[in-house]
Amino acid sequence: MGLINKCLFPAAGYGTRFLPATKAMPKEMLPLVTKPLIQYGVEEALDAGITGMAIVTGRGKRAIEDHFDISFELEHQIAGSDKESLLDGTRDLINRCTFSYTRQNEMLGLGHAILVGETLIGDEPFAVLLADDFCLTESDSVLAQMTALYEQYRCCIVAIEEVPLDQVSRYGVISGVEEREGLFRVNEMVEKPEPAAAPSNLAIIGRYILTPAIFEVLRNTAPGRNGEVQLTDALQTLASQGQVLACRFDGKRFDCGSVEGYIDATNVLYRRTIHSESEQ
Ligand code: UTP
Repeated sequence: MGLINKCLFPAAGYGTRFLPATKAMPKEMLPLVTKPLIQYGVEEALDAGITGMAIVTGRGKRAIEDHFDISFELEHQIAGSDKESLLDGTRDLINRCTFSYTRQNEMLGLGHAILVGETLIGDEPFAVLLADDFCLTESDSVLAQMTALYEQYRCCIVAIEEVPLDQVSRYGVISGVEEREGLFRVNEMVEKPEPAAAPSNLAIIGRYILTPAIFEVLRNTAPGRNGEVQLTDALQTLASQGQVLACRFDGKRFDCGSVEGYIDATNVLYRRTIHSESEQ
């Protein structure tokens, strides 16, 4: 067992940018080519040595639970055919990971969703993965890069990337002292700032390593922007005690919570699929 054994997937959001597709189906089940976003997330966590998948769902999200379960009728139906192998990857995840679920009854923000997940995590450090941020890397996954850093630093770590200044108002933004190339000790974090008020253009993306201290801080964090309990506000409390690092990761992120990012990721993965098929 490593130091980080569980990954929390807050997956209770409404996904309004994808309506009507997300009216009765979770955003996390949207496929990139043929695999749902959340499956890429689970694969990434597993690549980081994590086998405990803790998923915070909400109303209308039951498809996620069904996806990570055996489907006897379907598997019986395709047994022995050339389609059987299409479920190998999913079956492998079901065999190697444990999946636990809880529901966020009211969508009171990402910070609130993480607090709801406390019951699945307990008193240990854990990863958080927002499945709508899809990351492609050449070697280690983003979470694997971050768990390796956690072994060394044992504090909260957020993944960041540089974004154009006119886009900072979509993200949590940090400023800090660069301790070594690409690794910052955070001293300020602001949720969705206007460009003029942004401390930098270093934006937090949907990968975190958190210590269990975050739960107590979240309990005492008042609702912030949009009346939601913001994870960024809670992390700011820990950052002011020097307990948060931000790392620029190796790889490319696609914002699959937006239609444009989703289409980009689909095109990139589709080209890769065609390429690898033509090599066989
Ligand atoms: P988003 O800001 O992308 O919101 O949430 P959303 O509802 O999913 O999508 P839009 O903006 O309406 O299109 C960021 C992440 O936090 C989770 C979401 O599921 C997503 O992974 N989240 C957000 C929750 O789990 N609960 C909440 O109350 C809010």
